[in-house]
Amino acid sequence: MSWLNLEEKVAIVTGGASGLGRAVCEGLAEVGARTIVADVDEEGAARLATTLKEQFGGEHIATRTDVRSKASVEAMIQSALDAFGTLDILVNNAGINIPRLLVDPAGKEELTEDIWDRVVSINQKGPFLCTQAAARLMMKSDKGGVIINMASESGSEGSEGQSVYAATKAALYNLTRSWAKELGKHNVRVVGIAPGILEATALRSDEYERALAYTRGITIETLRTKYEEASIPLGRSGKLSEVAGTVCFLASERAGYIHGTVVNVSGGKSRA
Ligand SMILES: NC(=O)c1ccc[n+]([C@@H]2O[C@H](COP(=O)([O-])OP(=O)(O)OC[C@H]3O[C@@H](n4cnc5c(N)ncnc54)[C@H](O)[C@@H]3O)[C@@H](O)[C@H]2O)c1
Repeated sequence: MSWLNLEEKVAIVTGGASGLGRAVCEGLAEVGARTIVADVDEEGAARLATTLKEQFGGEHIATRTDVRSKASVEAMIQSALDAFGTLDILVNNAGINIPRLLVDPAGKEELTEDIWDRVVSINQKGPFLCTQAAARLMMKSDKGGVIINMASESGSEGSEGQSVYAATKAALYNLTRSWAKELGKHNVRVVGIAPGILEATALRSDEYERALAYTRGITIETLRTKYEEASIPLGRSGKLSEVAGTVCFLASERAGYIHGTVVNVSGGKSRA
């Protein structure tokens, strides 16, 4: 038995095809878990499932999932059951970020109802639908389960130009606490992770950087320099693999008494 003892555990990772979700799938596969790569990017998810099998061995599948849709989320859970007959771990990782100002005096990059709804539906409603469906199953099982919510340090700190994103991440802090209170008695642990500034993923696209720089009244070059110069006591951005390692630990029985809290992974930049 290995230290984490995650061999053969079955884990769904939403938004698993890219960036942090991909790193989480790789981390889980490396320690022997069976993964379900659940993503709206069907081809990307399928490619990753194949790569995981080649690189780490074991069984991994992909499923086209839109976390905004209850029917799609139920199909995702069914895919896990059809393939593996069980579900041990859900990582609510799918998320988007569209920087906008609450009020833009120039009227260019202002938060609209449409953007508000898009960000909330993926970042906040998505984890609700996925956790509800997964918890129904885990509560019936003798072995329980683990839910991991991918929040962000912006959820406790707030973030200039990213208020709706930060608000959805703040919601994940609270959902983590509330769901822990409801599900703990059923042997389902709920934890969150709040990463700080990480190495670039698809989320940090040119369009994202352009809009974020605009909302902060700085150039893209200055914004990029700020990633490096931000007051990070460890003096560098976080590696995706470092967040993935935290997911593996939290998913394991080694973290069996960590429940209803959000673990900060920000190199010392923020606290909670
Ligand atoms: N990258 C960072 O610096 C950072 C920091 C803190 C928190 N996070 C969080 O980590 C998570 C992943 O971010 P990332 O940086 O890897 O972004 P990313 O854009 O690289 O990956 C997001 C993935 O989610 C998928 N996705 C989008 N909408 C979806 C939907 N409706 N249903 C299912 N899948 C959907 C995308 O196809 C993509 O594969 C997000 O929740 C984000 O808020 C990221």
